[in-house]
Amino acid sequence: MFLLNFILVVGMNYFVFLDVREIVFIIQSQRNSFHAKLYEFYSLSFQNLPVVLLIHDLTESEGGWSILPLMPQFSENYGHNSSWIFFLEEETSVNVPKIVHILRRFPKEQWFLGKALHDEEATIIHHYAFSDDPKAFMYPDFAAGWALSMTLVKRLAKKVKDEPLKSDFTIDLKHEIALYIFEDGNGPALIPVQELCTVADSSNNEEICATTHTAFSSSCVKPVDKNDIFFGVKTCRKFHKDRIPVVKKTWEKDSAFIEYYSDYADSSIPTVNLGVPNTERGHCGKTFSILERYVSNAVPETKWLVIVDDDTLISVPRLQKLLGCYNPNEPVFLGERYGYGLGTGGYSYITGGGGMVFSRQAVLKLLESGCRCYSNDAPDDMVLGMCFSALGIPVTHSSLFHQARPEDYSKDYLSHQIPISFHKHWNIDPVSVYHKWLKEDSYPENVQGHKGIREDL
Ligand SMILES: *[C@@H]1O[C@H](CO)[C@@H](O)[C@H](O)[C@H]1NC(C)=O
Repeated sequence: MFLLNFILVVGMNYFVFLDVREIVFIIQSQRNSFHAKLYEFYSLSFQNLPVVLLIHDLTESEGGWSILPLMPQFSENYGHNSSWIFFLEEETSVNVPKIVHILRRFPKEQWFLGKALHDEEATIIHHYAFSDDPKAFMYPDFAAGWALSMTLVKRLAKKVKDEPLKSDFTIDLKHEIALYIFEDGNGPALIPVQELCTVADSSNNEEICATTHTAFSSSCVKPVDKNDIFFGVKTCRKFHKDRIPVVKKTWEKDSAFIEYYSDYADSSIPTVNLGVPNTERGHCGKTFSILERYVSNAVPETKWLVIVDDDTLISVPRLQKLLGCYNPNEPVFLGERYGYGLGTGGYSYITGGGGMVFSRQAVLKLLESGCRCYSNDAPDDMVLGMCFSALGIPVTHSSLFHQARPEDYSKDYLSHQIPISFHKHWNIDPVSVYHKWLKEDSYPENVQGHKGIREDL
């Protein structure tokens, strides 16, 4: 039914009246001070817009970023006088007259618009509720901006109130939102809009682009010195032989300070024994011991701590650049953000496999708080999320960290990123993955940080 409507609309060149004031622009913003400043900078280009909201201002809880819980609020506040909600990432630039022009093609009905991504094959980061063919399901690339018609927002608001979200976990929000809206065919599928772009270049006819996205990591002025970053690698005896050699062959040489924490002494690595029994899963006890050790005299004092798994691949130079954006004197907890129970309060956390980055301040505050593991084998990343959430320290998200392998993400999605990390060796050659995706000179050619844009921040 929805597809049919679309064809009719396009076929008849339908044009509806739409005033720019009927569009509510929502920035998928973050609370951290660097991100707040980023918004001030970008907000110059939003001066002429009547309604711009920052998502982190819309709720007290940290869960606003998962968007669906905000639907009742959107419907209540803007249902009577607005026709569209248009979402933008912090670094999406937008040509408003072009957006108005696009939205005029769509009459008052349920619409879900965006730049479409799809999977090549089933991936561990996505659920597939509706069919066995993951390729066929489209979800929006948030970087290009995406839109919901108010008619759809009203239906979603009702649905969110009536039935709780199916999954407790928020892992890849863009895919989960698309599944929720599609509702096994009862709701609209994503309509791809070619004017919503990420990278504007000759390949997609840049004149038509109403949105574009700036790559993140190359933009802060001064990279953090590598002597300011301490790396802790969690390993255990059974992985000394196959995983640690990969770290040594790839990113270890770019780090100034690195320690390997294992249950078993091996001087060839060498390992550090934390005196915590190894656990099959969870590692909470181990991670908290790493935090204690980090602030002790046993290791050099650095501004930043990064805890990774022994099968995490990470680009240290790119991390140095990214950290140049952040203030180490603030409590910063950074990486790929996941959520747990966000529909009903819940908390956000940094998923461990992609790498968890802490400012020294964050570690000190956490340890002072007395928040600890409820058991040694509790999931460390989730416990840390709970603790920081209780402390009111926001989780800061960067989409450049990845909990899974490059093949687990849509090609189009990765094509406009300069990634910092990937995770897991399963069915891949991790050394060649590192060289292809994470070596400093392996930027995809079309991805460029817009140099200069953030130099005055
Ligand atoms: C729509 O109503 C909300 C209050 O519910 C108001 O804040 C907003 O400015 C209104 N939008 C326009 C375009 O008047």
